[in-house]
Amino acid sequence: MYARAVAAMTTALLATLTLLIPASDARAHTSRQPSVIAHRGASAYAPENTLAAIDKAAELGIGWVENDVQRTKDGELVVIHDDSLRRTTNVKKVFPGRSPWKVKDFTAAEIARLDAGSWFGPAYAGARVPTLKQYMRRVEHNHQNLLLEIKNPQLYPGIEQQTLKLLGNEGWLDRQHLARRLIVQSFSADSVRTVHDLKPGVRTGFLGSPSVADLPAYAKFTDQINPSYGSLSGTYVSLVHAFTGPHGRPMEVAAWTVNDAATARTVARYGVDGVITNKPDVVRQALSGS
Ligand code: G3P
Ligand code: CA
Repeated sequence: MYARAVAAMTTALLATLTLLIPASDARAHTSRQPSVIAHRGASAYAPENTLAAIDKAAELGIGWVENDVQRTKDGELVVIHDDSLRRTTNVKKVFPGRSPWKVKDFTAAEIARLDAGSWFGPAYAGARVPTLKQYMRRVEHNHQNLLLEIKNPQLYPGIEQQTLKLLGNEGWLDRQHLARRLIVQSFSADSVRTVHDLKPGVRTGFLGSPSVADLPAYAKFTDQINPSYGSLSGTYVSLVHAFTGPHGRPMEVAAWTVNDAATARTVARYGVDGVITNKPDVVRQALSGS
């Protein structure tokens, strides 16, 4: 009875909000410009998810970087997007008999031998797939902030706990990092919820665009809803903002992957809090005039 009453009230509230919030007013939520987040590092200019890509973002003056974390056969956390090593390394040449070259089927020592830069350009020959530990140290060295994605968590049982342990060991779970410098996100709601349950102080993000009716449930464990820009509207952003996340602040929205000035301005008008981009310089320039 009680649950039905709460559901009815939520639906009524959402309907009212939808009517009250014109999409064109979305930017009124905040006067702040959205944060610019370098997707897989400044990945238009340097090989994605390498130390060179976060150094490039730092060189451009970009304070936030995004990455993807997975796990090797022998349990090392590494930073790489695909579940296979094929696209972004020379694994086919070094280990020709090991198709389909899954990250989870290679040891950390084997992955450390791979060239993760030549596919992008000769200037990056010899770049490596970083371990998460190496990566965290470079982000810290560069005074950057991190949007860490737990990628394919269904392949790596316990990866949430392991990632949090490493973050703690590296000093990333102290008050200052938790308040300002770290967000953990995933396409898996279960994974995001697990991170929240294990370390409630960590800010989290869900990758996707849940239906408005489901937002109250998401607001219990995620601080951000991070959709593809193509599925966004100003109304949706405003509706997300109307919910209070687990840390007592309005839920936020970061849109991906926005690589041109016009789209950056459009999502900024929608009122997003972050823009995730391969070309952080282009997006920053576009937003400085919006
Ligand atoms: O951070 C958003 C974005 O990284 C999600 O997509 O496939 O690039 O990891 P993907
Ligand atoms: Ca990602």
